[in-house]
Amino acid sequence: MTVRDQAAPLLNIVGAGRVAQTLASLWHACGCFTVQDVLTTSLASARAASAVIGAGQPVAYVQDMRPAAVWMLAVPDAQIGASASALAVVAPGLLANAPASPPLVFHCSGAQSVAALAPLAGLGWQVASAHCILSFTNVATALAQFPGTPCPLDGDAQARALLHRAFTAIGARCFDIASEDKLLYHAAAVFATNFLPVLQATAEGLWRSTGMPAELMPALRERLLRNAVANITSLGPQAALTGPAARGDTAAIARQGAAVAAWDAPAGAAYEALSALALRLARQRK
Ligand SMILES: NC(=O)c1ccc[n+]([C@@H]2O[C@H](COP(=O)([O-])OP(=O)(O)OC[C@H]3O[C@@H](n4cnc5c(N)ncnc54)[C@H](OP(=O)(O)O)[C@@H]3O)[C@@H](O)[C@H]2O)c1
Repeated sequence: MTVRDQAAPLLNIVGAGRVAQTLASLWHACGCFTVQDVLTTSLASARAASAVIGAGQPVAYVQDMRPAAVWMLAVPDAQIGASASALAVVAPGLLANAPASPPLVFHCSGAQSVAALAPLAGLGWQVASAHCILSFTNVATALAQFPGTPCPLDGDAQARALLHRAFTAIGARCFDIASEDKLLYHAAAVFATNFLPVLQATAEGLWRSTGMPAELMPALRERLLRNAVANITSLGPQAALTGPAARGDTAAIARQGAAVAAWDAPAGAAYEALSALALRLARQRK
């Protein structure tokens, strides 16, 4: 699927925010899918999404959507079950005159498994999920950063095979994941990326409260983060560990933990928990 193909499967989109706009733009550009109908919470945002994708018919209601071979549910995680149920209600009428083979529906959540699509699986639809490990902060940036993005797939074998081809065609690196492993898998991504801004914000809050001149902060932030990334990528996390835990200085950890807890209770709890993990990491390298 590297060249535009008139017979490319039809793709309907339910939820067309950052992820769907990025993926659909890439698939439209490579001709993997023909983007057909686009549903969001309003006709105005569906129109805007179609304009970004450069394809797709904005629709106002799920019952206005036409049959398609592939359906992407890229709504927020909390909406996946409700969207699948809403689609299941209209599916019999929607597919009355459609080709015999059951449609494929997939969602894009890392934290949820295909179980969220049970209402459609119950109607015989092929179900899958495809989670791209990328922070889709905005479409332009995500388009540039997408090539090489790992993408675990779970669900029916036939659905995974089709999605494997489609995601690989736009530069993703696909692999299979067991549905029961998705919660832990996604928690790992939270540790690896989502917690970094939290840790940085906490550090900067502490520095501000101790009188660090504001004008020094941007350079300090950049220097420490760049050094940490360079050390972790070249040495691995275990060898890159420094600080009181790396030295086994439990007395310093206890004093600092108490001081942080007095400053802010959640930050103190985080300091204590992360110090326990850091001490364990340090012990493992001996
Ligand atoms: N953002 C990331 O970095 C990232 C990374 C990997 C995976 N994901 C996953 O990708 C999925 C989508 O995330 P996103 O970041 O693209 O979300 P988003 O930017 O917030 O977009 C969500 C879209 O869903 C629409 N929507 C909300 N409720 C709906 C409903 N009931 N029916 C139809 N459309 C509805 C919204 O409509 P309006 O435009 O009208 O508001 C919007 O178009 C989630 O499962 C998320 O976990 C996200």
